[in-house]
Amino acid sequence: MRIGVVGSGYVGLVSGACFADFGHDVVCVDNDEAKTAALRAGKVPIFEPGLDALIERNVAAGRLSFTTDLASTVAGSDVVFIAVGTPSRRGDGHADLTYVEAAAREIGKAIEGFTVVVTKSTVPVGTGERVEEIIRDANPDADFAVVSNPEFLREGAAIEDFKRPDRIVIGSDDPRALEVMREVYRPLFLNKSPLVEMNRASAELAKYASNAFLATKIAFINEIADLCEKTGADVQNVAHAIGLDKRIGPKFLNAGPGYGGSCFPKDTLALLKTAQDYDVPQLIVESVVSSNDKRKRAMGRRIVHAIGDMARGKKVAILGLTFKPETDDTRDSPAIAIIQALQDAGANVSAYDPQGTDQARQVLSNVDYCTSPYDAAENADAIVIVTEWDEFRALDLSRIRDQLRDLVLVDLRNIYHRTEVERLGMKYVAVGR
Ligand code: UDX
Repeated sequence: MRIGVVGSGYVGLVSGACFADFGHDVVCVDNDEAKTAALRAGKVPIFEPGLDALIERNVAAGRLSFTTDLASTVAGSDVVFIAVGTPSRRGDGHADLTYVEAAAREIGKAIEGFTVVVTKSTVPVGTGERVEEIIRDANPDADFAVVSNPEFLREGAAIEDFKRPDRIVIGSDDPRALEVMREVYRPLFLNKSPLVEMNRASAELAKYASNAFLATKIAFINEIADLCEKTGADVQNVAHAIGLDKRIGPKFLNAGPGYGGSCFPKDTLALLKTAQDYDVPQLIVESVVSSNDKRKRAMGRRIVHAIGDMARGKKVAILGLTFKPETDDTRDSPAIAIIQALQDAGANVSAYDPQGTDQARQVLSNVDYCTSPYDAAENADAIVIVTEWDEFRALDLSRIRDQLRDLVLVDLRNIYHRTEVERLGMKYVAVGR
């Protein structure tokens, strides 16, 4: 198959590289000339384990290339994936479809022969119809079908998720398009990943419903964690006990500082906007969004409480700025909200993250960014683990203790045992335990 991927962002690059690795001929298009030139020179603009090597291998094999020339890519493709960004629209939380619509218009003008146009970006239900209209307006003679094929990959595990997905969702009623999509995903299909076909609206909504459900699990266990703290229960035991019920499942039941990232916060908001448009209340998702927002602020207060309810003039060391490990992404990261809350309360903040410092710097300037956990801890009144990077699981706690001014460890990811911390004479504050 000849595949064009429009948008060399997170989803576009991972999908493009993986499709090429399946043996397809893939061209990734982006209108950012600098980014495209960098990719051509072998520089991958995002941090994702394994992606550099995957791109290098497929470029060398002649199956993957990068260009800014959308028209000739589309003309030479059997399938064109739209993988441009759909950020939250400023002001109202709707998904901003400007980039999707612009891509559709350009694609429409360039189509030659039967072409399957696939929305891979997360787009609100009904967008496929809109894309179809735009293409038809731009090119009334075009022979094409618009398919929804949402992507469920997680940052930090994107390649694994792409190559071994729980399912592949294809939304289309067009037999020719379905045939093409089965061919695109044939290697995964042969690998027994279920390919589920449905109409386009169902596929579009499945992505939002999936993210909203996962966000619900997290918000739920976080509220149960609060109850555990008051009652002497341990949330890790509670999560283990409930997760063994196959109807519930053990994953996404880790209590923490609240979910962040580029998907859950944005997609839950967009789902609520769609619900408003159709006048179908989504009370559960509404509560999840508000519970998660409150939680991030509550974590700031928890830290202030741990340092004696007086933050002014004190120093707090933050370990972890990204919303999760194995990424450099700090979008909607709990760490950012927590640092802002601490600064508002008058604290000075030092921080260390293995990958997220550059992104964090763009949002938060008044932070002392350090190059190791031990530097960050120097003369701090508390050290706070916000992201569970592997390197924070094996800290030299006595060295940390010797750096601190006051001996407080706030572990918002529950990666230490109370006894090992308290044995060193430190105060230990965890979540739900
Ligand atoms: C998510 C979905 O998992 C993925 O399927 C979708 O395509 C995009 O959104 P991602 O945002 O990359 O992926 O990260 P994920 O691993 O799902 O974590 C999201 C947030 O939830 C993180 O802030 C994480 O720390 C938090 N989380 C996750 C918890 O607090 N507890 C958990 O048990 C799991």
